[in-house]
Amino acid sequence: MLFSKSIAAAALLISKAAATIYYAGVSESSGEFGVWSATSTPGTGLPGRFGVDYAFINKTAIDVFVDQDHVNLFRVAFLLERMCPPTTGLGAKFNQTHFDLYADAINYITKTKGAYVILDPHNYMRYNDPSQQPMTGSVIGNSTDPKAATTKQFAEFWGELAGRFKGNERVIFGLMNEPHDMSTDLVLANDQAAIDAIRKAGAKQLWTGYSPSSATALANIKDPLNNTAIDIHEYLDADFSGSHVSCNSSGPANLADVTAWLKANKFKAIVSEFGAANGTQCASYLSDMINYMASNEEYIGWAAWAAGPFWGTNSACCSDGNHWGSLEPGSTAGDGGPSMYETVWLKEIQPLLPKALQWAGVSSVKGGVVSVKGGSHPLV
Ligand SMILES: *[C@@H]1O[C@H](CO)[C@@H](O)[C@H](O)[C@H]1NC(C)=O
Ligand SMILES: *[C@@H]1O[C@H](CO)[C@@H](O)[C@H](O)[C@H]1NC(C)=O
Ligand SMILES: *[C@@H]1O[C@H](CO)[C@@H](O)[C@H](O)[C@H]1NC(C)=O
Ligand SMILES: *[C@@H]1O[C@H](CO)[C@@H](O)[C@H](O)[C@H]1NC(C)=O
Ligand SMILES: *[C@@H]1O[C@H](CO)[C@@H](O)[C@H](O)[C@H]1NC(C)=O
Ligand SMILES: *[C@@H]1O[C@H](CO)[C@@H](O)[C@H](O)[C@H]1NC(C)=O
Repeated sequence: MLFSKSIAAAALLISKAAATIYYAGVSESSGEFGVWSATSTPGTGLPGRFGVDYAFINKTAIDVFVDQDHVNLFRVAFLLERMCPPTTGLGAKFNQTHFDLYADAINYITKTKGAYVILDPHNYMRYNDPSQQPMTGSVIGNSTDPKAATTKQFAEFWGELAGRFKGNERVIFGLMNEPHDMSTDLVLANDQAAIDAIRKAGAKQLWTGYSPSSATALANIKDPLNNTAIDIHEYLDADFSGSHVSCNSSGPANLADVTAWLKANKFKAIVSEFGAANGTQCASYLSDMINYMASNEEYIGWAAWAAGPFWGTNSACCSDGNHWGSLEPGSTAGDGGPSMYETVWLKEIQPLLPKALQWAGVSSVKGGVVSVKGGSHPLV
């Protein structure tokens, strides 16, 4: 008995130590499309035509990612101005039609496929004018801008959204995509109000927060459930923008400081955007980055940028404007050649996807039971 007990204890330890990544997959970007205006005209593309100007996911592509590639995480973008039309303002009043379309995508991923989702308001902490994102729109909570939505409205929005999804264990709340050019104090105030509203609504799932300057600012946020992860975006080109073909920045070197900070402050992180171009020059940068996240227990998840039904032959990252396609299965490059789904995702990223991921239980910074989904990986 003693013998089998210690075997069991050893097995438990091994699975714990190996499974630092619980959630891994891709960002689904397209729900935020269709609002860009060359003349920065507010209201362009709003509310937009679903399936024409924007869409959330292609269910066939989700099937490929889950059934063949064994991905268990999707970060699904949407626009606050579509969920909460400017006529009624940011808050608890949703456009029910738009919500139903979003919920259909979220429920397909979580309930039909059994994967996890990060809800992603892709708004840069701005609301009311996405016509030239990321620069346009009033900063949420800017008290000297009479047109700005307030911190209280942001909290009402999150309380409502979290309340609607509180029964879905496979949901993660990504409070805001890339707040920038605003005070860190205001980001914190908005996030704190949102997390208070989320917990008040009875939602217990994991949430993630992104800090414009450094992760350290987020240390002051109080979540009564401590179910919190820091959201990090990390591109591997020279200026970290994810726009260039050439890889130039080492993920492990760039992340070293933040990893030390996470460790010292007992925080975990999800890298919800990262990427690099196709071709051998970037291959080691990508594998170094993914292996680094796998071997440092501070990282619990990652999502590559980006798949999504509306990219067409455009590249979501790292192409210097070339049309090399996106990470969307079934997409092609502009010249009809293989897209980044084949040249980057299948070739570089998917082979490094952890074999065992979490497939059940509430989304948690502590992870959950991990297991291998489906059969053997086709490419390894
Ligand atoms: C709500 O969303 C639907 C679907 O996109 C759209 O047809 C409708 O115009 C929207 N309503 C408002 C007030 O934006
Ligand atoms: C807040 O609003 C004021 C007035 O419109 C503007 O001058 C300021 O730049 C805004 N602050 C931010 C962070 O956008
Ligand atoms: C959250 O973390 C704080 C600080 O470490 C601790 O005092 C508190 O008991 C934790 N709460 C829960 C619910 O784990
Ligand atoms: C890295 O970036 C610098 C500055 O943009 C450039 O001069 C250099 O050629 C780049 N190196 C590689 C390997 O792409
Ligand atoms: C990247 O993919 C595109 C589209 O298939 C292709 O034209 C290009 O040659 C590839 N680049 C490299 C360096 O392999
Ligand atoms: C969804 O993906 C499938 C498979 O790649 C493709 O045939 C179909 O046209 C896509 N649907 C939309 C609406 O993009």
